[in-house]
Order: sequence, then structure tokens, then C-alpha cells
Amino acid sequence: MIEGRALERVVETRDPAGTRALAAALAAAARPGDLLSLVGELGAGKTQFAKGFGAGLGVTDTIVSPSFVLMAEYCGRLPLFHIDLYRLADAAEALAGGLIDERQGEGVTLIEWAERLADAMPAGHLDVLIEGTGDDPRRIVLRAAEATYSRYLDALSGASSDASPLESPATKAVR
Ligand SMILES: Nc1ncnc2c1ncn2[C@@H]1O[C@H](COP(=O)(O)OP(=O)(O)OP(=O)(O)O)[C@@H](O)[C@H]1O
Ligand SMILES: [Mg+2]
Repeated sequence: MIEGRALERVVETRDPAGTRALAAALAAAARPGDLLSLVGELGAGKTQFAKGFGAGLGVTDTIVSPSFVLMAEYCGRLPLFHIDLYRLADAAEALAGGLIDERQGEGVTLIEWAERLADAMPAGHLDVLIEGTGDDPRRIVLRAAEATYSRYLDALSGASSDASPLESPATKAVR
């Protein structure tokens, strides 16, 4: 806790719609320059999260895995930059390729397989750790690596009203 604000929340989702609804609720907190690290094994739901986050930002284009283009850009309330490092050999290659550039300061950047950046990952970001695969429920840990990102966790707290997508029976806060 920093100044009484929670820096971590754990949410359980029971299906892909639940994960998308969670991400859409989080997107309400997005500000220009934000960075989200999406970590979880193959098929955990990182791309489902990105789809929901995009929907929450008002992106109308279909968000697909950017594996073959490294980074895809979408237009929403803020620009959304969606990066997938799965096929990347190393972080140096990513950075040499201009992975993080000044344009991203105007939008929100989601990075799948962000752990591949290791120390090259900027300190300011929200960690999204997705545990579980297949038809299992997902345990999703949201961790503010810097205090400014605790506003994402606050957005979730505010989302417990009737109007919230988190009211979906597919999503439940476990802590
Ligand atoms: N609660 C859940 N949340 C998210 N996805 C779920 C859930 N339950 C089942 N699924 C299924 O798991 C799969 C998640 O696929 P997705 O492409 O989002 O994973 P990924 O983490 O991006 O994988 P990759 O590492 O290959 O990019 C989808 O087929 C989705 O329907
Ligand atoms: Mg993916």
C-alpha cells in the first residue's frame, strides 16, 4: 500500500467474456503514455484481455494477435498500441526495432510476453498476470508497479455498481 491505496488486486474470470469485461473496465483508467505488461502462458488470455481493453477504449476495429507485425495500432479514445513479443529473439532486438517510441506517449501500450523485455521494461507499468489455460477459470493478478497505476485498481473498485461489466456473473473479485 502507498498512502492507503492498494497496489494489487486479484480477479477471477470464468470465461473469455469475463476477461474482456475486466479489461474494458480497466480501460476507463487509461491515460496517455500508459504501459500494461500482459504475462501468462500460451492461451492464457492475453489477447482476450487486449480485445476487451480496446473495446473499453472505444476501438471498433477487430483486435487480433499482432504476432506477425510486432505492433498493431488501433484508434480509440486514446490510440492503442498492441505488441506481441512471442516470436522475438531478445529484448535488444525489440528495442533496436523501435519497440517503444515517442508515439506511444500519446496512447496506451499493451505488451504480450512482456517478461521477455526483462530489465528493458520501463518501471512505470501495470502488471497483468494471467494464470490458467483451457477451460479453467483464470486468476488475474493486477499489480501497479508504480503508484500512479493504482488508478487502474481504483477503477475496478468503482466498477462494483450495477452498471459495471464486472457485475457479469463471469467475473468475480477474489481479493
Ligand atoms: N476466463 C478466460 N479468459 C480468457 N480466455 C479464456 C477464458 N476461458 C477460456 N478462454 C479461452 O482461452 C483462449 C485464450 O486465448 P488468447 O489468444 O487470448 O491467449 P494468449 O494468452 O493471447 O495466447 P498467446 O500466448 O498464444 O498469444 C481463448 O481461446 C479463450 O476462448
Ligand atoms: Mg496472444
